[in-house]
Amino acid sequence: MVKKIFSGVQPTGNLHLGNYLGAIKNFVELQNQDKNECVYCVVDLHAITTKQDPKILKNNIRETTAAFLASGLNHNKSIIFQQSLVPAHSEGSWLLGCIARMGWLNRMTQFKEKAGKDKEKASIGLYIYPVLMAADILLYDSTHVPVGEDQKQHLELSRDIAQKFNLDFNKPNFLKVPNPLIQKKFARIMSLKDGTKKMSKSDPSDLSRINLTDSEDEIINKIRKAKTDTESLPDNEIDLSKRPEAENLLGIYSSLTNQSLQNSINEFSGKNFSDFKKNLTDLIVAKIIPISNEINKLKKEKNFIDNVLSEGSVKADKISSNKVKEIKKIIGF
Ligand code: AMP
Ligand code: TRP
Repeated sequence: MVKKIFSGVQPTGNLHLGNYLGAIKNFVELQNQDKNECVYCVVDLHAITTKQDPKILKNNIRETTAAFLASGLNHNKSIIFQQSLVPAHSEGSWLLGCIARMGWLNRMTQFKEKAGKDKEKASIGLYIYPVLMAADILLYDSTHVPVGEDQKQHLELSRDIAQKFNLDFNKPNFLKVPNPLIQKKFARIMSLKDGTKKMSKSDPSDLSRINLTDSEDEIINKIRKAKTDTESLPDNEIDLSKRPEAENLLGIYSSLTNQSLQNSINEFSGKNFSDFKKNLTDLIVAKIIPISNEINKLKKEKNFIDNVLSEGSVKADKISSNKVKEIKKIIGF
């Protein structure tokens, strides 16, 4: 079976190791498997659900695209495009917004987190954000959607919308019900300053995350300052699970080496953090610095990046505008 893959990343700056290990690394592996048809989107319409500075946004759209390419996505193998260049996403979002129920959206925990205490002041866009995400996915007949753990609930909503549409209009299987592809292990990379909070673009402390554009010195400094405890490293997963910072750092190590957590535990049990941190730093530098260098190089090639996005958007438009046409016909327009 051909797998149709779709995923997106918001161009909101500070792309970090969590984005890489939770999502982008997986995008590249899926692209490189035979027969998969992959579509990867820079979701700028999602980004404006919170306030953005126009100049910075433009820069971030290019930087996110550069990060895709620098991480190994290839615009000749995958469709790489910019959401706002493809009108079907906005139109599809309206059409599907009339299928989604308020009760479903009211349950979305990301809205509650992002809107904070004063949700009366949140944009309507932030509230209906998961409907736009459903349009992204469903307009491409996507079968698999690689995302980090935090997007699981939004994906379930996409599935509910697809099923209700098919049922309401008696069109079984017309909208394909997508499957989440969430790595079971290390699905959430946590902050370097607090092992109970996820690593995030918006954390005010830059020391909480490894950015994909960090220099070697920054990486060395951030791992040196990463929070730890005073004990040496344990010899089993149960003891490790009681120590969130140690668990996160060993998780990062395991994910970057593609080995099991138990293997990493075996490698470092009984050692102190300074030994382990040295190995971890070398590993992160070896994996991230080539990406960082490439992003910084590509960022200067603005015309090239803009062309990748506009060519990708033409391909994406062909697929999605056609699906919107079919949806409109079914609705009765
Ligand atoms: P965003 O930056 O919110 O657009 O997220 C882009 C992708 O990275 C999504 O698939 C997220 O689930 C994933 N992601 C973001 N933060 C983390 C994290 N700390 N750990 C793992 N995955 C993450
Ligand atoms: N909401 C996702 C995030 O914040 C980004 C996104 C938008 C997405 N549309 C998508 C992810 C479609 C997967 C599929 O990370």
